[in-house]
Amino acid sequence: MRVVSGIQPTGDLHLGNLLGAILRWVRMQDEAECLFFLADLHALTVEVDPAQLRSNIREMAAALIASGIDPARSILFRQRSVPAHAELAWILQGTARMGWLNRMTQFKEKSGKNREGSSVGLFTYPVLQAADILLYRATHVPVGEDQKQHVELTRDIALKFNTDFDVDLFVPPEPFIGGGTAARVMSLRDGRAKMSKSDPSEMSRILLTDSNDLIAQKVRKAKTDPEPLPADVSGLDERPEAKNLVGIYGAVTGETVDQVLGRFAGQGFGAFKPALSDALIALLEPLRMRLEQFRADPAELDRILAAGSERAASLGAPTLDAAYDAVGLSR
Ligand code: TYM
Repeated sequence: MRVVSGIQPTGDLHLGNLLGAILRWVRMQDEAECLFFLADLHALTVEVDPAQLRSNIREMAAALIASGIDPARSILFRQRSVPAHAELAWILQGTARMGWLNRMTQFKEKSGKNREGSSVGLFTYPVLQAADILLYRATHVPVGEDQKQHVELTRDIALKFNTDFDVDLFVPPEPFIGGGTAARVMSLRDGRAKMSKSDPSEMSRILLTDSNDLIAQKVRKAKTDPEPLPADVSGLDERPEAKNLVGIYGAVTGETVDQVLGRFAGQGFGAFKPALSDALIALLEPLRMRLEQFRADPAELDRILAAGSERAASLGAPTLDAAYDAVGLSR
């Protein structure tokens, strides 16, 4: 079992990233060889502010370590520092089909009405993501639901390449998605929209950097409905905001939705919201404290990332060589 996953260093870690990916990465460190990286090349597919990107990279590295990614056990690195990602992505551009990429919902969402004005990189983004995964022959890719389609595309690219060039080189990976709300944490302002760093409303997401007061304020103002909480899960069906908050509570405390409802059935949000704030603060406060420590030592962060990049580069090199060989470009 080999685990590979990445995160774009754009903005602060939010609760969706944490529950959907990062805290699951942390748990997988005990079970498998893990490579986790900052997808800083992917960050170039939308508008770039170089100074901001530079500082986001360190900030995201600090946030991952503070959340429990242990550089002694996992390989933590920057995509940019392992040029094999970009090289393999180019090779795979010859394998991926226009029709496949045309079906990617993330491109449709991110380009919106501005398809013609989007960068070419935003369109071919999933091919670089496939290279990230296939370079290390990953078996498991822990991601949120929104990345599932990209991992499935990676499987298609792997199988087509192996067939076209008659090799057994790439391992088709499995998307590894959390259960329940963890797979898709929703906005606090709209239970039908994903919690996301691109939502214009700050109140829609909880950040790792939020103070306890701000967490409590965001939960207090979270959209809800006037009904009390139901006794069983089916009672949440047409209540997306209630379902999201109950799901977040369960994901944070490790309880099932049934267990949470067992405790709160019949109570209104006036009682539930303070309990949810407390649970979130208990999770996030210690991580935020650790983040402050790691931030204070940028030289150590750079050293960790450099060491990780070196290990990743040597793990990926044989795959890149074999891909060049397969297509007839041996050195
Ligand atoms: P990114 O940076 O948008 O998000 C990082 C991780 O957080 C998950 N996530 C969520 N999970 C549940 N609920 C949410 N509301 C939510 N929002 C974000 C994402 O699913 C992701 O797992 N393309 C990727 C980065 C990437 C990558 C890779 C991932 C590049 N190469 C190779 C895996 C393997 C992305 O932009 O994630």
